[in-house]
Amino acid sequence: MLKNTLLKATKDAALIMQQYFNTNFSISNKEGMNNLVTEVDHKSEEAIFAAIKADFPDHYILSEETGAMVQDSSYKWIVDPIDGTVNYANGIPICCVSIGIEKDGKMIMGAIYNPFINEFYFAERGVGSFLNDQRIYVSKKDRVLHSSMVTGFPYTYIDQPNGPLEVFSKLVRRGIPVRRLGSAAMDLCWVAAGRFDGFYEHQLSPWDSAAGFIIVEEAGGKVSNLKGDYYNPYKHGIIATNGKIHDELVSICNGGNVIED
Ligand code: IPD
Ligand code: CA
Ligand code: CA
Repeated sequence: MLKNTLLKATKDAALIMQQYFNTNFSISNKEGMNNLVTEVDHKSEEAIFAAIKADFPDHYILSEETGAMVQDSSYKWIVDPIDGTVNYANGIPICCVSIGIEKDGKMIMGAIYNPFINEFYFAERGVGSFLNDQRIYVSKKDRVLHSSMVTGFPYTYIDQPNGPLEVFSKLVRRGIPVRRLGSAAMDLCWVAAGRFDGFYEHQLSPWDSAAGFIIVEEAGGKVSNLKGDYYNPYKHGIIATNGKIHDELVSICNGGNVIED
């Protein structure tokens, strides 16, 4: 039942993303420069809430645009109605719906769907991660120097030692390909699917990473904060890798250098 509701909520919201893509929807700005929210984010959220409430009216929901709908429940749905809103607003099809489910504080299920490329990712604790019903696994690369990486930057730049541009610069100066796609949820899925060996970002919110966190773990990967401790989606920084390059990437994010051949 939980899984069916999760799949339905994700698909209903993705259908709305498709219906309105490249149409004349309204766009407004949230706090920070160019931190957008569109009419479609709200419509997507409504569809997700309707699906959850129809089956589980007493579950807790935390959603990006509406905030916390607190209920005394051991289940919490963590919702990003569109991850990659800036892409969506510009007609760039790198965006998705992302929904994670926590039970008693532990992530137990996650779904991420990008309808434009028809990629539906799903993970369940102890069962595995799937892309369109096929099992997926992280890559096997064991050195950052030979890795393919992805990152993201916050809406308001954080100027701090080992900040986003410093780490980016260190990797790029060594010739390591680092992509910046604009959807943390897609970034995490593509680590899970073995397309990227690692992802790091300095400032995310729980809805950006909740579903992707379990999708990477169940694909055999590792997810931590920037210091290398076990990941907490309610804290800001994230490093998600295939596991093999994890310690090296943690070191690089804390001032260390890329290990040479
Ligand atoms: C953003 C995207 C982006 C990441 C930002 C997030 P939004 O989410 O995931 O990749 O770099 O930190 O806020 O605003 O498109 O839902
Ligand atoms: Ca997001
Ligand atoms: Ca969003």
